[in-house]
Amino acid sequence: MAIIDTDIAQAKAWLLAGNVVGVPTETVYGLAGNAFNEDAVLKIFQVKNRPHFDPLIVHTNSLEKLTAFVASFPAVAQQLAEVFWPGPLTLLLPKSPLISDLITAGLNTVAVRIPQHPVMLELLAALDFPLAAPSANPFGYISPTSAAHVAAQLGAKIPYILDGGACKVGIESTIVGFEGTEVVVYRLGGISVEALESVVGKVRVQTHSSSNPNAPGMLQSHYAPRKKLLLGCPEKPADNWGYLAFSQPNAHIFPQYQRILSPTRQYTEAAKHLFGYLRQLDALPIAGIYAELLPNEDLGRAINDRLRRAAADDLFVE
Ligand code: TXA
Ligand code: MG
Repeated sequence: MAIIDTDIAQAKAWLLAGNVVGVPTETVYGLAGNAFNEDAVLKIFQVKNRPHFDPLIVHTNSLEKLTAFVASFPAVAQQLAEVFWPGPLTLLLPKSPLISDLITAGLNTVAVRIPQHPVMLELLAALDFPLAAPSANPFGYISPTSAAHVAAQLGAKIPYILDGGACKVGIESTIVGFEGTEVVVYRLGGISVEALESVVGKVRVQTHSSSNPNAPGMLQSHYAPRKKLLLGCPEKPADNWGYLAFSQPNAHIFPQYQRILSPTRQYTEAAKHLFGYLRQLDALPIAGIYAELLPNEDLGRAINDRLRRAAADDLFVE
């Protein structure tokens, strides 16, 4: 069973030995390995039970280190990096020969990110290699936003989880690529479309999956609890169902079967609670979960994206 602790030197030692460890970031916890060590990268796929066609994000702590991993860094990408790094933004850039095909699943772009978490940044600063890290959940399940979430599902398969507390953002990074002069959002996440557009002007959002070979991990059925999840809530809800609401409880459902993302309707608070509350509801003795969609703006869009993917096999209630 994994040791959960806050010792950065321990995490470093496990990584140097070619192991994979749980690491905190501001978005979600990652399952990290030395991006320059093929065996460590293979272990990441194994532990997560992740298909090899789904590429990994490469994390580091400085622009100086990062520029060695990319073949070019367009001006518009640099502009975004300047404003949003460290932070919940991942850029797709042409890869340099330092980055293996295993990491990019054979694509000629690499996903790169400088995360904003003091513990993760300290760890990265202590390493002379970058960390490849997907979210530390089994493929297809809800992403982890605490060390305990990582331990609950992957604890038996990894030696160490570096505890950095609860993730402050709570949903994954926004993934942005560049096509000609266009800025394209492939995954909605912790940086809103509005925030991106305030820096680079109009962006194109292309998060739909089956027709999107560019982000193979954006599969429809993703981020899903084990329980059936329906979007919306019927007038007469079943009495053994739970409810995930934005701000208002539902008077027809047992209070203990409800979670309220943000009573004051703050999108950042809602995002921070989303995955943890879904896990809590998933663990209750209920038959399914009704989930309310948020207004389609700001981080509400990213939250709705996750809820829709979690509900992939189900129908709208309303
Ligand atoms: O917030 C995050 O991004 C977290 C933390 C740990 O940094 N990481 C994360 O990784 O969410 P993961 O592997 O769960 O999701 C990464 C997504 C996948 O959908 C993958 O397909 C996509 O990024 N991706 C990675 N490299 C890519 C590439 N070269 N081109 C297109 N999509 C890529
Ligand atoms: Mg993931």
